[in-house]
Amino acid sequence: MNILLTGGTGYIGSHVAVVLSEMSHRVVLYDNLSNSVRTVADRIGEIVGKSCEFVRGDIRDTDFLQKALREYEIDAVVHLAGLKAVGESVDKPIEYYSNNVQGTISLLEAMKAEDVKRLVFSSSATVYGQPQYLPIDESHPTSATNPYGRSKLHIEEMLGDLAISDPDWHVACLRYFNPVGAHETALLGENPSGKPNNLVPFIAQVASGTRAVLSVFGDDYDTSDGTGLRDYIHVMDLAEGHALALQFLVDNAGWHAINLGTGQAYSVLEMIKSFEHVSGRKIAFEVMPRRSGDVAACYADAEKARNLLGWTATRTLENMCSSTWHFQQTVDKYTAQCPKQPECDKARR
Ligand code: NAD
Ligand code: UD1
Repeated sequence: MNILLTGGTGYIGSHVAVVLSEMSHRVVLYDNLSNSVRTVADRIGEIVGKSCEFVRGDIRDTDFLQKALREYEIDAVVHLAGLKAVGESVDKPIEYYSNNVQGTISLLEAMKAEDVKRLVFSSSATVYGQPQYLPIDESHPTSATNPYGRSKLHIEEMLGDLAISDPDWHVACLRYFNPVGAHETALLGENPSGKPNNLVPFIAQVASGTRAVLSVFGDDYDTSDGTGLRDYIHVMDLAEGHALALQFLVDNAGWHAINLGTGQAYSVLEMIKSFEHVSGRKIAFEVMPRRSGDVAACYADAEKARNLLGWTATRTLENMCSSTWHFQQTVDKYTAQCPKQPECDKARR
């Protein structure tokens, strides 16, 4: 299959590109580089042993997208492009609706015009809002508490309406739980610019000495040790889920929401302990008040992915932490050589 990967040079997109390329699909990365760098395409190529095609473009540019769909004879789209920081979305809602919702409308217009009607969309467990029961299955009610979550929900609903309007559409909304980890080569991983919003990148930076201390947001939840419980999933397991979802869509029309999670939850303190074990470093932390908008526990019922896609996550917590640590050390090494990130990326080549 010829597959267009929007957001293909991003954290998750780059890992999806590796998995799809290794399955002999032709992968075309489409990204405006607002949160990634061009050299990621070269690193994907290095891993898979062949060059990876890259188009610099914005998903809101419908004509340009249409041209790319035509030129590369695209059969299916994996749509990961978008903005993803919850706090930022509260401050900049228009940017989030523009990039995420308007961007998706533009993509759908281009796909419709070129008669490409197979789509895998990056959704999130955030569409479940405050969990009403655990583990969360796909029938759990949806809601949103911030513009980022609302943008994901709007897109899912839009895609549902589209599939009702035209039975030729084949759409999978993959609801990710908490993606972490990195490619085993340490050529790809999550390297947030500025202060990390998410737990695992923050722990990695404390382990490496980039940051002094981790704030643990609350130890008074109704959980085993009082800290928040989440379903962390290795980004390579997640990437493999995309490949199987594409395969599933070949024979299955309509709209499908599918959780990608492990079904296993770990607390913040368990994550710290595991990271200390793999890194051999002490993670300094202090307990702070709860973070606004956080829930005590969130983890998936992953049965649907197993039944429909034949997918289950296989990588362990230790693997999630050790691959993150390996990647963090690689980033630190090159950042030390070249403190400005774009130049640093050139140095890595
Ligand atoms: P990322 O920021 O690393 O990747 C997103 C990519 O999209 C970036 O390379 C960015 O440059 C690109 N992009 C943004 N706006 C664009 C636009 N208008 N046109 C073209 N390219 C654009 O993020 P990620 O962690 O890889 O997330 C990928 C997707 O998965 C996002 O849609 C995100 O909402 C979703 N998701 C991520 C997580 C997570 O924890 N990382 C969890 C749930 C869902
Ligand atoms: C967050 C987003 C969610 C998004 C997901 C992407 C919020 C409220 N939710 O989810 O919408 O889809 O990221 O992965 O932002 N923690 C700390 N200290 C930190 C960071 C986090 O103690 O510095 C705790 C949190 O309170 C939580 C756990 O670690 O219990 C995981 O947090 P995080 O990695 O931010 O993920 P989520 O909150 O699950």
